[in-house]
Amino acid sequence: MLHLYPTDDGSFTLFHEGLNEIYHSRRGALQESRHVFINAGLLYLLSQKEQINILEVGFGTGLNALLTVDFLLENPEKSVSYTGLETLEVPQELWEALSYPTQAGKPELASHFAQMHQCAWHEPIALTENFTFCKVLQSVAEFDSPACFDVVYFDAFAPKRQPEMWQPEIFAHLFAMMHEGGVLVTYCAKGQVRRDLQSVGFSVERLEGPAGKQEMLRARKGGEVEGWKGGKVKRRKG
Ligand SMILES: C[S@@+](CC[C@H](N)C(=O)[O-])C[C@H]1O[C@@H](n2cnc3c(N)ncnc32)[C@H](O)[C@@H]1O
Repeated sequence: MLHLYPTDDGSFTLFHEGLNEIYHSRRGALQESRHVFINAGLLYLLSQKEQINILEVGFGTGLNALLTVDFLLENPEKSVSYTGLETLEVPQELWEALSYPTQAGKPELASHFAQMHQCAWHEPIALTENFTFCKVLQSVAEFDSPACFDVVYFDAFAPKRQPEMWQPEIFAHLFAMMHEGGVLVTYCAKGQVRRDLQSVGFSVERLEGPAGKQEMLRARKGGEVEGWKGGKVKRRKG
């Protein structure tokens, strides 16, 4: 059972009764999404490449996808192919009530947002000239793809609520589906999560977190980590 839940920046999120958990930070759904996924993930990789493939683990309300398409409309020289994995569809009355396009100051994106939610699962659509979108109704553990993703928005429920999503096996599976130089970003900065990401081969940076959180993580496949604030990063050989 899902219902609306207000957050501190004025935007709403959803509360999942079964898990007793909310979909975003109570300090602000919009600010968290912009900080963690758009700024630390999308903008970071698009500063290095013109075209990228994004995998979102937990499409949910569609907020991250909406903010991504917003950036692409403002930056027509860049292009993105976006895959959103999900296991639980958000009902229409809830994604409509969230009214994220208006909350984000972009009411003109309402039809893009509706299309994301209403399009068929597993069928890619060209939402704009530079943004291809596909929703996949499948668990991340079962989803498979060639190594093609440049950015992974890892937006699972918190480890204490859904520990099976934060296992080294899941991180290894995502690592295998990513391009060299690709990054996985997550709001979670737990030491165990950082060590598990490192154990499967990622180089991990701790970055300043969104409001209410000291840190977040950005894990890179290959290459050295810039701005590492912690100890020596161990990289798996081979
Ligand atoms: C913290 S919410 C975030 C959702 C979304 N990114 C948003 O901004 O609304 C986590 C999402 O992961 C989804 N999820 C749960 N288990 C999953 C799985 N095994 N594979 C893919 N997604 C899953 C949930 O249904 C939920 O929508």
